[in-house]
Amino acid sequence: MVWQRSRLDQKILSPSPSFDVSVMQRTQQRKWEIMIKKLFRQHIKVQQERIARALTECSVDGLIISSGAPITYFADDQDAPFHATPHFAHWCPERSPFHLVHLRPGQKARLVFFSPNDFWHEAPTLMQSEWADEFEIIRVEDQSTRWQILGNLRNHAFVGPESKEAEEKGLVANPVQLLNYMDWFRAEKTDYELYCLEQASELGAKGHRAVRNAFAQGASEMEAHHIFLTAIAGREEDLPYPSIIGMDEKSAILHYQQKRNTKVPQASVMLIDSGGKYQGYCSDITRTYFKASAPATFKSLLAGMEKLQQELCEQVRVGVSFKELHKTCHLRTGQLLVDTDILRNCTAETAFSLGLTKIFFPHGLGHMLGIQVHDVGGFQSNERGEQVPPCAEFPTLRMRRPLRAREVVTVEPGMYFIPMRLDTVRHNELRSYCNWTLINELLPFGGIRIEDNVVVEAKESRNLTRAFLGNDFAIS
Ligand code: GLY
Ligand code: MN
Ligand code: MN
Repeated sequence: MVWQRSRLDQKILSPSPSFDVSVMQRTQQRKWEIMIKKLFRQHIKVQQERIARALTECSVDGLIISSGAPITYFADDQDAPFHATPHFAHWCPERSPFHLVHLRPGQKARLVFFSPNDFWHEAPTLMQSEWADEFEIIRVEDQSTRWQILGNLRNHAFVGPESKEAEEKGLVANPVQLLNYMDWFRAEKTDYELYCLEQASELGAKGHRAVRNAFAQGASEMEAHHIFLTAIAGREEDLPYPSIIGMDEKSAILHYQQKRNTKVPQASVMLIDSGGKYQGYCSDITRTYFKASAPATFKSLLAGMEKLQQELCEQVRVGVSFKELHKTCHLRTGQLLVDTDILRNCTAETAFSLGLTKIFFPHGLGHMLGIQVHDVGGFQSNERGEQVPPCAEFPTLRMRRPLRAREVVTVEPGMYFIPMRLDTVRHNELRSYCNWTLINELLPFGGIRIEDNVVVEAKESRNLTRAFLGNDFAIS
Protein backbone atom coordinates (compact mmCIF):
# COMPACT_ATOMS: atom_id res chain seq x y z
CA MET A 1 0.00 0.00 0.00
CA VAL A 2 1.28 3.43 -0.81
CA TRP A 3 2.11 5.52 2.21
CA GLN A 4 -0.39 8.33 2.60
CA ARG A 5 0.80 11.68 3.85
CA SER A 6 -2.57 12.70 5.23
CA ARG A 7 -2.66 9.85 7.75
CA LEU A 8 0.78 10.68 9.07
CA ASP A 9 -0.06 14.38 9.18
CA GLN A 10 -3.04 13.66 11.37
CA LYS A 11 -1.03 11.50 13.73
CA ILE A 12 2.16 13.51 13.95
CA LEU A 13 1.36 17.08 13.12
CA SER A 14 -1.68 17.70 15.31
CA PRO A 15 -0.41 17.89 18.88
CA SER A 16 -2.39 19.25 21.79
CA PRO A 17 -1.62 23.00 22.22
CA SER A 18 -0.82 22.61 25.95
CA PHE A 19 1.84 19.97 25.27
CA ASP A 20 5.44 20.89 26.15
CA VAL A 21 7.15 21.79 22.85
CA SER A 22 10.40 19.91 23.36
CA VAL A 23 8.58 16.75 24.46
CA MET A 24 6.31 17.17 21.47
CA GLN A 25 9.25 17.55 19.10
CA ARG A 26 11.01 14.51 20.53
CA THR A 27 7.82 12.48 20.21
CA GLN A 28 7.34 13.60 16.62
CA GLN A 29 10.96 12.84 15.83
CA ARG A 30 10.66 9.38 17.35
CA LYS A 31 7.48 8.64 15.38
CA TRP A 32 9.15 9.80 12.21
CA GLU A 33 12.20 7.60 12.88
CA ILE A 34 10.00 4.57 13.42
CA MET A 35 8.12 5.30 10.21
CA ILE A 36 11.21 5.91 8.05
CA LYS A 37 12.99 2.84 9.41
CA LYS A 38 9.97 0.71 8.62
CA LEU A 39 9.74 2.11 5.11
CA PHE A 40 13.45 1.61 4.52
CA ARG A 41 13.29 -1.97 5.82
CA GLN A 42 10.49 -2.74 3.35
CA HIS A 43 12.47 -1.06 0.59
CA ILE A 44 15.54 -3.23 1.28
CA LYS A 45 13.39 -6.36 1.48
CA VAL A 46 11.98 -5.63 -1.99
CA GLN A 47 15.46 -4.86 -3.26
CA GLN A 48 16.81 -8.14 -1.84
CA GLU A 49 14.13 -10.14 -3.63
CA ARG A 50 14.70 -8.34 -6.90
CA ILE A 51 18.48 -8.57 -6.87
CA ALA A 52 18.42 -12.26 -5.87
CA ARG A 53 16.35 -12.97 -8.97
CA ALA A 54 18.58 -10.84 -11.19
CA LEU A 55 21.76 -12.47 -9.91
CA THR A 56 20.31 -15.93 -10.43
CA GLU A 57 19.20 -15.04 -13.98
CA CYS A 58 22.69 -13.72 -14.69
CA SER A 59 24.38 -16.75 -13.05
CA VAL A 60 26.32 -14.57 -10.63
CA ASP A 61 26.87 -15.36 -6.93
CA GLY A 62 27.22 -11.82 -5.64
CA LEU A 63 27.41 -8.16 -6.53
CA ILE A 64 29.51 -5.24 -5.33
CA ILE A 65 28.16 -1.74 -5.94
CA SER A 66 30.44 1.22 -5.38
CA SER A 67 29.28 4.68 -4.38
CA GLY A 68 31.95 5.92 -6.79
CA ALA A 69 35.02 8.10 -6.80
CA PRO A 70 35.17 11.88 -7.07
CA ILE A 71 35.92 13.42 -10.44
CA THR A 72 38.93 15.76 -10.29
CA TYR A 73 39.07 18.63 -12.76
CA PHE A 74 41.87 18.42 -15.33
CA ALA A 75 45.19 19.86 -14.13
CA ASP A 76 43.61 20.90 -10.87
CA ASP A 77 43.35 19.62 -7.31
CA GLN A 78 39.64 20.33 -7.01
CA ASP A 79 36.83 17.83 -7.43
CA ALA A 80 33.47 18.26 -9.12
CA PRO A 81 30.50 18.05 -6.73
CA PHE A 82 30.13 14.36 -5.93
CA HIS A 83 27.21 12.32 -7.25
CA ALA A 84 26.97 8.77 -5.91
CA THR A 85 26.53 5.92 -8.41
CA PRO A 86 22.73 5.77 -8.84
CA HIS A 87 22.66 1.99 -8.32
CA PHE A 88 24.41 2.53 -4.98
CA ALA A 89 21.99 5.32 -4.05
CA HIS A 90 19.17 2.86 -4.72
CA TRP A 91 20.47 0.77 -1.80
CA CYS A 92 22.06 3.28 0.50
CA PRO A 93 21.38 7.01 1.03
CA GLU A 94 24.98 7.80 2.05
CA ARG A 95 26.28 10.40 -0.40
CA SER A 96 30.07 10.23 -0.13
CA PRO A 97 32.66 8.34 -2.21
CA PHE A 98 34.42 4.98 -1.87
CA HIS A 99 31.76 2.97 -0.04
CA LEU A 100 30.88 -0.53 -1.26
CA VAL A 101 27.66 -2.46 -0.90
CA HIS A 102 28.03 -6.24 -1.08
CA LEU A 103 24.95 -8.23 -2.03
CA ARG A 104 24.45 -11.99 -1.98
CA PRO A 105 21.11 -13.79 -2.30
CA GLY A 106 19.65 -14.72 1.06
CA GLN A 107 22.20 -12.74 3.09
CA LYS A 108 22.06 -9.39 4.82
CA ALA A 109 23.58 -6.65 2.68
CA ARG A 110 27.06 -5.66 3.73
CA LEU A 111 28.26 -2.07 3.63
CA VAL A 112 31.95 -1.30 3.57
CA PHE A 113 31.78 2.20 4.96
CA PHE A 114 34.75 4.37 4.06
CA SER A 115 35.46 6.88 6.80
CA PRO A 116 39.07 8.05 6.60
CA ASN A 117 41.04 9.73 9.35
CA ASP A 118 41.26 13.03 7.51
CA PHE A 119 41.82 16.35 9.23
CA TRP A 120 41.25 18.31 6.00
CA HIS A 121 37.68 17.15 5.56
CA GLU A 122 34.85 15.89 7.68
CA ALA A 123 34.66 12.12 7.37
CA PRO A 124 31.20 10.57 6.98
CA THR A 125 29.74 8.94 10.09
CA LEU A 126 26.80 6.67 10.69
CA MET A 127 25.38 8.81 13.47
CA GLN A 128 21.64 9.21 13.15
CA SER A 129 21.38 7.08 10.02
CA GLU A 130 17.88 5.68 9.97
CA TRP A 131 18.97 3.12 7.40
CA ALA A 132 22.08 1.67 9.07
CA ASP A 133 20.28 -1.29 10.73
CA GLU A 134 19.66 -2.83 7.33
CA PHE A 135 23.36 -3.43 6.70
CA GLU A 136 26.15 -5.39 8.23
CA ILE A 137 28.59 -2.49 8.41
CA ILE A 138 32.35 -2.71 8.22
CA ARG A 139 34.14 0.61 8.67
CA VAL A 140 37.41 1.10 6.78
CA GLU A 141 39.79 4.04 7.04
CA ASP A 142 41.95 3.14 4.11
CA GLN A 143 40.79 2.77 0.51
CA SER A 144 43.19 -0.07 -0.20
CA THR A 145 41.63 -2.32 2.44
CA ARG A 146 38.03 -1.89 1.31
CA TRP A 147 38.23 -4.78 -1.17
CA GLN A 148 40.33 -7.15 0.95
CA ILE A 149 37.89 -6.95 3.80
CA LEU A 150 35.22 -8.55 1.62
CA GLY A 151 37.23 -11.76 1.31
CA ASN A 152 36.61 -14.18 -1.54
CA LEU A 153 34.62 -12.55 -4.33
CA ARG A 154 34.42 -15.56 -6.65
CA ASN A 155 31.87 -15.25 -9.47
CA HIS A 156 30.93 -11.70 -8.46
CA ALA A 157 29.84 -8.78 -10.57
CA PHE A 158 30.66 -5.14 -9.96
CA VAL A 159 28.67 -1.98 -10.68
CA GLY A 160 30.32 1.42 -10.45
CA PRO A 161 32.89 3.63 -12.12
CA GLU A 162 36.01 1.75 -10.85
CA SER A 163 35.66 -0.97 -13.49
CA LYS A 164 39.42 -1.38 -14.08
CA GLU A 165 40.09 -1.93 -10.38
CA ALA A 166 37.21 -4.41 -10.18
CA GLU A 167 38.36 -6.36 -13.24
CA GLU A 168 41.86 -6.62 -11.82
CA LYS A 169 40.28 -8.33 -8.83
CA GLY A 170 38.52 -10.81 -11.11
CA LEU A 171 35.04 -9.24 -11.00
CA VAL A 172 32.86 -8.77 -14.06
CA ALA A 173 32.44 -5.00 -14.28
CA ASN A 174 29.11 -3.45 -15.22
CA PRO A 175 27.59 -6.43 -17.08
CA VAL A 176 24.85 -5.15 -19.35
CA GLN A 177 22.43 -7.99 -18.60
CA LEU A 178 22.53 -7.28 -14.87
CA LEU A 179 22.31 -3.51 -15.38
CA ASN A 180 19.18 -4.04 -17.47
CA TYR A 181 17.52 -5.84 -14.57
CA MET A 182 18.60 -3.16 -12.13
CA ASP A 183 17.39 -0.32 -14.35
CA TRP A 184 14.04 -1.99 -14.89
CA PHE A 185 13.56 -2.47 -11.14
CA ARG A 186 14.65 1.08 -10.39
CA ALA A 187 11.75 2.51 -12.39
CA GLU A 188 9.17 0.89 -10.10
CA LYS A 189 9.29 2.76 -6.81
CA THR A 190 8.85 1.26 -3.35
CA ASP A 191 6.82 3.05 -0.67
CA TYR A 192 10.07 4.37 0.79
CA GLU A 193 11.01 5.88 -2.54
CA LEU A 194 7.58 7.42 -3.04
CA TYR A 195 7.92 8.97 0.40
CA CYS A 196 11.32 10.42 -0.55
CA LEU A 197 9.96 11.74 -3.84
CA GLU A 198 7.08 13.33 -2.00
CA GLN A 199 9.47 15.01 0.43
CA ALA A 200 11.55 16.22 -2.52
CA SER A 201 8.41 17.75 -4.01
CA GLU A 202 7.53 19.47 -0.75
CA LEU A 203 11.01 20.93 -0.55
CA GLY A 204 10.97 22.09 -4.17
CA ALA A 205 7.55 23.69 -3.61
CA LYS A 206 9.00 25.77 -0.76
CA GLY A 207 11.64 27.16 -3.08
CA HIS A 208 9.08 27.86 -5.81
CA ARG A 209 6.80 29.80 -3.48
CA ALA A 210 9.67 31.99 -2.32
CA VAL A 211 10.77 32.68 -5.89
CA ARG A 212 7.27 33.63 -6.99
CA ASN A 213 7.22 36.30 -4.27
CA ALA A 214 10.69 37.46 -5.25
CA PHE A 215 9.67 37.84 -8.88
CA ALA A 216 6.62 39.86 -7.82
CA GLN A 217 9.01 42.23 -6.03
CA GLY A 218 11.35 42.65 -9.01
CA ALA A 219 14.22 40.28 -8.08
CA SER A 220 16.90 39.47 -10.65
CA GLU A 221 17.42 35.92 -11.95
CA MET A 222 20.47 35.60 -9.68
CA GLU A 223 18.56 36.84 -6.64
CA ALA A 224 15.74 34.44 -7.42
CA HIS A 225 18.27 31.60 -7.56
CA HIS A 226 19.69 32.51 -4.14
CA ILE A 227 16.20 32.89 -2.72
CA PHE A 228 15.38 29.38 -3.92
CA LEU A 229 18.49 27.99 -2.20
CA THR A 230 17.71 29.85 1.02
CA ALA A 231 14.12 28.58 1.01
CA ILE A 232 15.24 24.96 0.68
CA ALA A 233 18.19 25.58 3.08
CA GLY A 234 20.52 24.00 0.55
CA ARG A 235 23.75 24.49 -1.34
CA GLU A 236 23.93 24.44 -5.13
CA GLU A 237 25.18 20.86 -5.02
CA ASP A 238 22.09 19.88 -3.05
CA LEU A 239 19.91 20.70 -6.04
CA PRO A 240 18.82 17.78 -8.23
CA TYR A 241 19.94 19.79 -11.29
CA PRO A 242 21.09 23.36 -11.86
CA SER A 243 18.10 25.68 -11.49
CA ILE A 244 16.73 27.20 -14.68
CA ILE A 245 15.45 30.71 -13.98
CA GLY A 246 14.83 32.85 -17.03
CA MET A 247 12.96 36.09 -17.41
CA ASP A 248 11.26 37.33 -20.56
CA GLU A 249 13.07 36.13 -23.72
CA LYS A 250 15.41 33.88 -21.68
CA SER A 251 12.46 31.74 -20.63
CA ALA A 252 12.51 30.34 -24.18
CA ILE A 253 15.98 28.81 -23.67
CA LEU A 254 15.06 25.30 -22.58
CA HIS A 255 17.99 24.70 -20.23
CA TYR A 256 19.00 28.34 -19.69
CA GLN A 257 22.07 28.14 -17.48
CA GLN A 258 22.89 31.80 -16.76
CA LYS A 259 21.53 33.86 -13.93
CA ARG A 260 21.52 37.54 -14.76
CA ASN A 261 22.43 39.79 -11.91
CA THR A 262 20.68 42.81 -13.30
CA LYS A 263 17.45 43.68 -11.59
CA VAL A 264 14.55 43.45 -13.98
CA PRO A 265 11.57 45.03 -12.22
CA GLN A 266 10.03 45.57 -15.63
CA ALA A 267 10.25 41.87 -16.58
CA SER A 268 6.85 40.50 -17.53
CA VAL A 269 7.54 36.75 -17.48
CA MET A 270 9.59 34.36 -15.38
CA LEU A 271 10.06 30.64 -15.96
CA ILE A 272 11.57 28.67 -13.09
CA ASP A 273 12.47 25.00 -13.44
CA SER A 274 13.97 23.86 -10.17
CA GLY A 275 13.54 21.10 -7.62
CA GLY A 276 14.55 19.66 -4.29
CA LYS A 277 16.34 16.49 -3.28
CA TYR A 278 15.55 14.19 -0.37
CA GLN A 279 17.72 11.17 0.52
CA GLY A 280 19.00 11.26 -3.06
CA TYR A 281 15.54 11.43 -4.71
CA CYS A 282 14.64 14.37 -6.93
CA SER A 283 11.75 16.61 -7.74
CA ASP A 284 11.63 18.42 -11.08
CA ILE A 285 9.16 21.30 -11.03
CA THR A 286 8.48 24.15 -13.45
CA ARG A 287 6.24 27.17 -13.18
CA THR A 288 5.85 30.18 -15.45
CA TYR A 289 4.52 33.49 -14.15
CA PHE A 290 3.43 36.66 -15.86
CA LYS A 291 2.84 40.18 -14.67
CA ALA A 292 0.14 42.58 -15.85
CA SER A 293 2.52 44.00 -18.48
CA ALA A 294 2.58 40.71 -20.48
CA PRO A 295 0.56 40.71 -23.72
CA ALA A 296 -3.01 39.45 -23.59
CA THR A 297 -2.19 36.54 -25.91
CA PHE A 298 0.62 35.37 -23.62
CA LYS A 299 -1.80 35.43 -20.70
CA SER A 300 -4.35 33.36 -22.65
CA LEU A 301 -1.66 30.91 -23.65
CA LEU A 302 -0.54 30.40 -20.07
CA ALA A 303 -4.10 29.85 -18.87
CA GLY A 304 -4.58 27.36 -21.73
CA MET A 305 -1.31 25.57 -20.92
CA GLU A 306 -2.28 25.22 -17.28
CA LYS A 307 -5.57 23.58 -18.28
CA LEU A 308 -3.82 21.32 -20.76
CA GLN A 309 -1.11 20.32 -18.28
CA GLN A 310 -3.65 19.40 -15.60
CA GLU A 311 -5.68 17.33 -18.03
CA LEU A 312 -2.56 15.45 -19.13
CA CYS A 313 -1.54 14.81 -15.51
CA GLU A 314 -4.95 13.34 -14.83
CA GLN A 315 -4.53 10.90 -17.69
CA VAL A 316 -1.42 9.31 -16.17
CA ARG A 317 -2.44 5.71 -15.37
CA VAL A 318 -1.11 2.18 -15.50
CA GLY A 319 -1.05 1.01 -19.12
CA VAL A 320 -1.33 4.46 -20.70
CA SER A 321 1.03 4.97 -23.61
CA PHE A 322 3.24 7.96 -22.85
CA LYS A 323 3.79 8.34 -26.57
CA GLU A 324 0.05 8.79 -27.09
CA LEU A 325 -0.07 11.30 -24.26
CA HIS A 326 2.74 13.21 -25.94
CA LYS A 327 0.78 13.18 -29.20
CA THR A 328 -2.34 14.43 -27.40
CA CYS A 329 -0.21 17.24 -26.04
CA HIS A 330 0.87 18.18 -29.57
CA LEU A 331 -2.70 18.24 -30.85
CA ARG A 332 -3.88 20.34 -27.92
CA THR A 333 -0.93 22.67 -28.34
CA GLY A 334 -1.93 23.03 -31.99
CA GLN A 335 -5.46 23.89 -30.90
CA LEU A 336 -4.19 26.58 -28.53
CA LEU A 337 -2.05 28.08 -31.29
CA VAL A 338 -5.03 28.13 -33.65
CA ASP A 339 -7.42 29.51 -31.01
CA THR A 340 -5.07 32.38 -30.21
CA ASP A 341 -4.55 33.11 -33.94
CA ILE A 342 -0.80 32.42 -33.73
CA LEU A 343 -1.37 29.75 -36.37
CA ARG A 344 -3.97 30.42 -39.03
CA ASN A 345 -5.39 28.84 -42.18
CA CYS A 346 -5.13 25.39 -40.60
CA THR A 347 -6.66 23.04 -38.05
CA ALA A 348 -4.78 21.67 -35.03
CA GLU A 349 -4.42 18.33 -36.85
CA THR A 350 -2.92 20.02 -39.90
CA ALA A 351 -0.56 22.04 -37.72
CA PHE A 352 0.60 18.81 -36.11
CA SER A 353 0.98 16.86 -39.34
CA LEU A 354 2.93 19.71 -40.96
CA GLY A 355 5.34 19.71 -38.00
CA LEU A 356 4.34 23.19 -36.90
CA THR A 357 3.56 22.20 -33.31
CA LYS A 358 7.15 20.96 -32.96
CA ILE A 359 8.36 24.49 -33.66
CA PHE A 360 6.64 25.70 -30.50
CA PHE A 361 6.91 22.48 -28.42
CA PRO A 362 10.29 20.99 -29.28
CA HIS A 363 10.87 18.65 -26.31
CA GLY A 364 9.28 15.52 -24.89
CA LEU A 365 6.21 15.64 -22.66
CA GLY A 366 8.20 14.18 -19.79
CA HIS A 367 10.50 11.53 -18.45
CA MET A 368 10.89 9.16 -15.56
CA LEU A 369 11.97 10.60 -12.26
CA GLY A 370 13.73 9.10 -9.26
CA ILE A 371 17.33 9.04 -8.11
CA GLN A 372 18.19 10.68 -11.39
CA VAL A 373 16.22 13.61 -12.72
CA HIS A 374 16.08 11.89 -16.08
CA ASP A 375 15.63 8.46 -14.58
CA VAL A 376 16.39 5.28 -16.46
CA GLY A 377 14.37 2.53 -18.08
CA GLY A 378 12.12 4.54 -20.40
CA PHE A 379 13.45 2.73 -23.49
CA GLN A 380 13.33 -0.81 -22.06
CA SER A 381 10.34 -3.03 -22.80
CA ASN A 382 11.19 -5.65 -20.18
CA GLU A 383 13.65 -6.53 -17.44
CA ARG A 384 15.88 -8.41 -19.87
CA GLY A 385 16.63 -5.14 -21.58
CA GLU A 386 14.80 -5.51 -24.87
CA GLN A 387 14.36 -2.04 -26.28
CA VAL A 388 11.21 -0.30 -27.43
CA PRO A 389 12.10 0.72 -30.99
CA PRO A 390 12.91 4.42 -31.35
CA CYS A 391 9.90 6.45 -32.29
CA ALA A 392 10.50 8.12 -35.65
CA GLU A 393 7.65 10.57 -35.07
CA PHE A 394 9.01 11.77 -31.70
CA PRO A 395 12.75 11.06 -31.58
CA THR A 396 13.33 13.19 -28.45
CA LEU A 397 10.81 11.35 -26.30
CA ARG A 398 12.62 9.68 -23.36
CA MET A 399 9.68 7.57 -22.24
CA ARG A 400 8.60 5.27 -25.03
CA ARG A 401 6.55 2.53 -23.43
CA PRO A 402 3.25 2.17 -21.57
CA LEU A 403 3.37 3.31 -17.96
CA ARG A 404 3.76 0.79 -15.15
CA ALA A 405 2.42 1.02 -11.59
CA ARG A 406 4.67 2.90 -9.15
CA GLU A 407 6.66 4.66 -11.83
CA VAL A 408 6.99 8.41 -11.40
CA VAL A 409 6.97 10.63 -14.45
CA THR A 410 7.14 14.33 -15.12
CA VAL A 411 4.40 15.95 -17.18
CA GLU A 412 5.83 19.11 -18.68
CA PRO A 413 4.16 20.56 -21.75
CA GLY A 414 5.83 23.66 -23.09
CA MET A 415 5.22 26.41 -25.59
CA TYR A 416 8.05 28.69 -26.60
CA PHE A 417 8.88 31.46 -29.03
CA ILE A 418 12.42 30.40 -29.91
CA PRO A 419 13.99 32.55 -32.64
CA MET A 420 16.10 29.65 -33.95
CA ARG A 421 13.05 27.39 -34.29
CA LEU A 422 10.84 30.05 -35.81
CA ASP A 423 13.51 30.94 -38.35
CA THR A 424 13.23 27.42 -39.80
CA VAL A 425 9.74 28.26 -41.08
CA ARG A 426 9.98 32.02 -41.50
CA HIS A 427 11.00 31.72 -45.13
CA ASN A 428 9.67 28.37 -46.32
CA GLU A 429 6.28 27.18 -47.55
CA LEU A 430 4.93 26.89 -43.98
CA ARG A 431 5.32 30.62 -43.32
CA SER A 432 1.78 31.36 -44.51
CA TYR A 433 0.34 29.43 -41.54
CA CYS A 434 2.06 31.71 -39.04
CA ASN A 435 0.78 35.06 -37.84
CA TRP A 436 4.15 36.79 -37.86
CA THR A 437 2.88 40.06 -36.46
CA LEU A 438 1.67 38.27 -33.34
CA ILE A 439 4.67 35.94 -33.15
CA ASN A 440 7.08 38.89 -33.35
CA GLU A 441 5.14 40.59 -30.59
CA LEU A 442 5.41 37.48 -28.38
CA LEU A 443 9.10 36.74 -29.04
CA PRO A 444 10.39 39.06 -26.25
CA PHE A 445 8.30 37.17 -23.70
CA GLY A 446 10.02 33.83 -24.21
CA GLY A 447 8.00 30.81 -23.33
CA ILE A 448 5.92 28.72 -21.01
CA ARG A 449 6.55 25.39 -19.31
CA ILE A 450 4.52 23.83 -16.50
CA GLU A 451 5.91 20.69 -14.90
CA ASP A 452 4.58 18.40 -12.19
CA ASN A 453 5.70 15.00 -10.92
CA VAL A 454 3.08 12.27 -11.07
CA VAL A 455 2.93 8.75 -9.63
CA VAL A 456 1.48 6.10 -11.93
CA GLU A 457 -1.38 4.28 -10.24
CA ALA A 458 -4.10 1.93 -11.48
CA LYS A 459 -7.21 4.02 -10.93
CA GLU A 460 -6.21 7.65 -10.61
CA SER A 461 -3.15 9.80 -11.04
CA ARG A 462 -1.35 11.04 -7.94
CA ASN A 463 0.24 14.43 -8.47
CA LEU A 464 3.11 14.79 -6.01
CA THR A 465 3.71 18.43 -6.91
CA ARG A 466 0.19 19.81 -6.69
CA ALA A 467 -0.10 18.42 -3.17
CA PHE A 468 2.33 21.18 -2.16
CA LEU A 469 2.26 23.79 -4.92
CA GLY A 470 -0.62 25.22 -6.89
CA ASN A 471 -0.15 27.30 -10.01
CA ASP A 472 -1.01 30.88 -9.31
CA PHE A 473 0.54 32.10 -12.52
CA ALA A 474 -0.85 35.64 -12.73
CA ILE A 475 1.05 38.17 -10.63
CA SER A 476 -1.01 41.29 -10.19
N1 GLY B 1 14.71 20.12 -15.43
C1 GLY B 1 14.98 19.43 -16.60
C2 GLY B 1 13.79 18.82 -17.16
O1 GLY B 1 12.69 19.26 -16.92
O2 GLY B 1 13.84 17.82 -17.82
MN1 MN C 1 11.67 17.41 -16.41
MN1 MN D 1 12.34 20.46 -15.21
